[in-house]
Amino acid sequence: MAPKETLTITDNRTGKTYEIPITHGAIRALDLRQIKVSEDDFGLMTYDPAFMNTAYCQSRITFIDGEKGILWYRGYPIEQLAEKSTYLETAYLLLHGELPTRSQYEEFVYIITHHTMVHENIRKFMDGFRYDAHPMGMLLGTVGALSTFYPEAKNIFDPKIREIQIHRLIAKIPTIAAFAYRHGIGMPYSYPDNDLSYTGNFLNMMFKMTELKYRPNPVLERALDVLFILHADHEQNCSTNAMRTVGSSHVDPYSAVAAAIAALYGPLHGGANEEVLKMLTQIGSKNRVPEFIKLVKAGESRLMGFGHRVYKSYDPRAKIIKKIADEVFEVTGRNPLLDIALELERIALEDDYFVTRKLYPNVDFYSGIIYQAMGFPVDMFPVLFAIARTVGWLAQWEEMLLDKEQKISRPRQIYIGPQKRDYVPIAARS
Ligand code: CMC
Repeated sequence: MAPKETLTITDNRTGKTYEIPITHGAIRALDLRQIKVSEDDFGLMTYDPAFMNTAYCQSRITFIDGEKGILWYRGYPIEQLAEKSTYLETAYLLLHGELPTRSQYEEFVYIITHHTMVHENIRKFMDGFRYDAHPMGMLLGTVGALSTFYPEAKNIFDPKIREIQIHRLIAKIPTIAAFAYRHGIGMPYSYPDNDLSYTGNFLNMMFKMTELKYRPNPVLERALDVLFILHADHEQNCSTNAMRTVGSSHVDPYSAVAAAIAALYGPLHGGANEEVLKMLTQIGSKNRVPEFIKLVKAGESRLMGFGHRVYKSYDPRAKIIKKIADEVFEVTGRNPLLDIALELERIALEDDYFVTRKLYPNVDFYSGIIYQAMGFPVDMFPVLFAIARTVGWLAQWEEMLLDKEQKISRPRQIYIGPQKRDYVPIAARS
């Protein structure tokens, strides 16, 4: 007889026994609510700070096996997509669940290409930022402001309107990102060029100078495309959780993406690649690596770009990035920080501290070194992550909206503050 897919719980406070169904290796937290000591008891809850063991949704988009170092988008291994696909094809896959036919692909590329322009007032809005504004702060503010340009975006249950906003966001985020960079260096904005690919056009908007036509280096254009594929989605990470949670209030997608960008900005998430570069620059030379490792082990510093909540073996994205690095350096020349990174990795992977905690290089460990060699300043790194992740946020947002089981996100708490007490007038307080 097949084993029963249930969990039997005995409440030792009451002696009562409950049988709870197990589906997909999980129990429903709400099934615990029936476990009470008295009629007026609220019922048992789970306590899970930082969602360490709580599935927040059912999803068909991305699969990760952290122990084995596996990452699939819609079932396709990341290694195959990185080798054979393009960023826009992968974006289509994430959004629609299947790889496009040739005509679907061409139509999607055409639509995204023809939505890259932004309203001139967006440009003026961006002019208002201080000369030294961080581009990620500019991106976050400007994407939020986009919602005021497309008020119809509030109709989130109209599939056609939803689709147009998805296209606009994927198309316009690189434009806003590049404008943020040009603002920082005091250069005139470079407008989109529809003859170029998604990443080729982004490089054009970033780096075009006085030439009449910008021609991206094909190796760098492809490397950036692959880096974007690697960052396109990563199931329920902090920013995707922000996207789903904020989106669950049924706000428009521009506001929800702005929230996701805010979550990505933090140094423990998308800000990590920026931190890696700062760390490598601070270490300065290969022979100072052991000294730095000592600091990390003493708890005085963190080895940025190492460790992951889910991956407990090598991050598969980091493996692919290491390969791209060689191709990029053939064009740009070797980034001297690579030697420090390689030495850090070598020592860390032999060290008991890192081995026992299963700390391996994550996606951010090498991506920053490549971005820097390609000419991106360090403060653009999280922005590049945001461009690529936008499609993942949107695919997850749409899945959440269409999921009948989802409602507005509203966790419970365990109140541990003072019990009821009476207000004391200020004159009577000691
Ligand atoms: N350097 C040194 N020690 C570390 C590191 C690190 N990078 N990461 C984790 N540890 C230690 C940590 O101190 C703890 O040790 P102990 O058990 O002695 O207290 C143990 O490993 C477990 O760490 P944790 O903080 O409980 O793990 P977490 O799952 O909460 O953190 C993480 C995951 C990614 C926030 C963390 O590994 C970290 O801060 N890494 C550096 C930042 C980074 O590279 N982030 C990018 C993540 S990948 C891209 C993305 O998704 O955004």
